[in-house]
Amino acid sequence: MTVVSADEYGFRAPFRALSDRIAECMLRDRHRLRTRLRHLEQRAAHHPPHPPAESEDLAAAVRRLAEEVDRSAAFRAERQANLPKPTFPDDLPVVQRRQEIARAIAENQVIVLSGETGSGKTTQLPKICLELGRGVSGMIGHTQPRRIAARSVAMRIAQELQTPLGHAVGYKVRFSDHTRPETYVKLMTDGILLAESQHDRFLEAYDTILIDEAHERSLNIDFLLGYLKQLLPKRPDLKLIITSATIDPQRFSKHFGDCPMIEVSGRTYPVEVRYRPLTAGTEDEEDLEMGEGILAAVDELWRHGPGDVLIFLSGEREIRETAEALRKHHPPGVEILPLYARLSAEEQMRVFHRHGKPRIVLATNVAETSLTVPGIKYVIDPGYARLSRYSARTKVQRLPVERVSQASADQRKGRCGRVSEGVCVRLYSEEDYQSRPKYTDPEILRTNLASVILQMKYLRLGTVQDFPFVEPPDYRSIRDGYATLHELGAIDERNELTPLGNQLARLPVDPRIARMILAAREEGCLDEVLVIASALSVQDPRERPMDKQAEADEAHRKFREPNSDFLAFLRLWDFYHGQAKHLSTSKLRKLCQANFLSFVRMREWHDIHNQLKEVMGEMGLYRAGGTPGEPPGQAEAPRPAARDESNARNERPQSPRRPGRRRRPRRSGHRSGPPSAQASGSVPSGALPTTSPAESPGR
Ligand SMILES: Nc1ncnc2c1ncn2[C@@H]1O[C@H](COP(=O)(O)OP(=O)(O)OP(=O)(O)O)[C@@H](O)[C@H]1O
Ligand SMILES: [Mg+2]
Repeated sequence: MTVVSADEYGFRAPFRALSDRIAECMLRDRHRLRTRLRHLEQRAAHHPPHPPAESEDLAAAVRRLAEEVDRSAAFRAERQANLPKPTFPDDLPVVQRRQEIARAIAENQVIVLSGETGSGKTTQLPKICLELGRGVSGMIGHTQPRRIAARSVAMRIAQELQTPLGHAVGYKVRFSDHTRPETYVKLMTDGILLAESQHDRFLEAYDTILIDEAHERSLNIDFLLGYLKQLLPKRPDLKLIITSATIDPQRFSKHFGDCPMIEVSGRTYPVEVRYRPLTAGTEDEEDLEMGEGILAAVDELWRHGPGDVLIFLSGEREIRETAEALRKHHPPGVEILPLYARLSAEEQMRVFHRHGKPRIVLATNVAETSLTVPGIKYVIDPGYARLSRYSARTKVQRLPVERVSQASADQRKGRCGRVSEGVCVRLYSEEDYQSRPKYTDPEILRTNLASVILQMKYLRLGTVQDFPFVEPPDYRSIRDGYATLHELGAIDERNELTPLGNQLARLPVDPRIARMILAAREEGCLDEVLVIASALSVQDPRERPMDKQAEADEAHRKFREPNSDFLAFLRLWDFYHGQAKHLSTSKLRKLCQANFLSFVRMREWHDIHNQLKEVMGEMGLYRAGGTPGEPPGQAEAPRPAARDESNARNERPQSPRRPGRRRRPRRSGHRSGPPSAQASGSVPSGALPTTSPAESPGR
């Protein structure tokens, strides 16, 4: 465009023209360009007539601004011209309702779309958005609860749009960003979007946001739903689509001011369910039976016909052991693939690679939703998952292995009906299935409020009592949460996060246990406290059956420490690990039995200990051999791996605000600050107690 000097035609004309042109720029540039324009206009308005030098200077600045406006507008025009033209497979329910869905999106700022599995929500909605011309001024942001889903969905949509992955359709997960400026649809984990909200407070990289699988209700999703609710009035141009399985979609609609709700039917191929319950036994016996049940189920399925098998297990150790048992049991031609959250991207993606051999995939619940793995014809579901859960009684956050809900079991089953019919073997009875809770509790109801508050502070989401949660926690737990954080020194008297709190927020364990660990590092007893802290995160491995209490007490006497229950854990640890060095698994199991110890819980203890060491290592606070790294406060590391496979907390890539760093200044006008800035740090003094009776982290 031509730029006129501020003096030539009256100083306002070029500013008006530029202002109009900014409306054609990329969303992410508009605010910045408008602010610059306003400043220049003020300069021009305040002191006319200008001395020649000042006038020239101003004209040059206006010219530079105009060039930048032109660049952004040209880029947007190019995006408009290159907008992909999607085609739709006509057999998916979402496609059959395409016109209606498109109209609802066009006419409303928010819609909720619920539908059963396989209806086409994940793969078709972004294309419907493209068809509506969304994705031009900003990208279509599309969130998934897990990395593997983000990547594989991006792959599928790119394929359907016939573009190479990373161009029109890209994805971003922790440590790797496969998007480019030309990207229209960006898949990411919900943790990534939450992390982005830290530096893009208005989410201006996007003109449309799709929160997929909202029914999973991880803390990340609940945080996003609250954040977006605050953001929508400030971003009237932003469209939001919430998709959910048919699990109480009304709740989401109500959260967003009774927004329209569309329900679509599912489309899966028939899946036959076979119930093959394991004989009930003790926890340890069942562990044995489980392996046998799995082998029998694989045999049964392969007698039925060829096809790949997907088996759901509760953790990495179970995966390793099942893999070992399967290798012994089957001829070497079978390919056995593990799939869990901590595997690298490449390792995870191997399940999608073509292969000629019969394949068995051993997965945690990362494979439960959103995935379509074409060769999978069979699912074996033992019915368990490891879920993070806070016990109000013991006041500790733990990771028990629990029976999964009916909704989870159905999602698992659904993984084998995506591209052809399948068979799902459940290693429990139909009555057991019927007696299970319908849905998994939302993470916020399973989490210590102190930990929720800590994370909200870390993410600058404002105060928990002012935040628009889909299901707000009760006031008493909030008060207790604040009290705990004060007690731990995680927040100061103004309820602001302290540097210590910043570190606690990054440890994925109960804040009290995290505090013990950090203190131990200062006191030079990290190795010992890591053992004790991990013991406190599992159920007590010492067993005391009703009919053998005296015998059990006698067996446990050797671990006792007269002055400390905590030191008793160390004794027990040393005893077990001393033996584990030279005993086979079955001998170790027998040793545990003889000493009234649960073998399963001993191993859980060991696993959690390993994970804590790893996270401390990532934070630069622990080195193998127990030598601590640099003192706290100096290390800066990515977020630790979350241990609960069902939450993507580990996807939030970095500390959003380091202690001492200044916040971005508030914006003026109606967009007065980030969505939650008004709410932040404003707990009324006196409303919440700042101290509480010291509670020892007992069990
Ligand atoms: N990678 C793929 N390979 C082959 N077919 C696929 C692939 N991804 C999706 N499909 C097909 O498209 C259908 C719809 O998939 P989509 O993921 O969009 O459904 P959805 O409604 O999001 O389901 P869910 O509730 O399980 O997430 C699948 O059932 C499958 O038939
Ligand atoms: Mg989906």
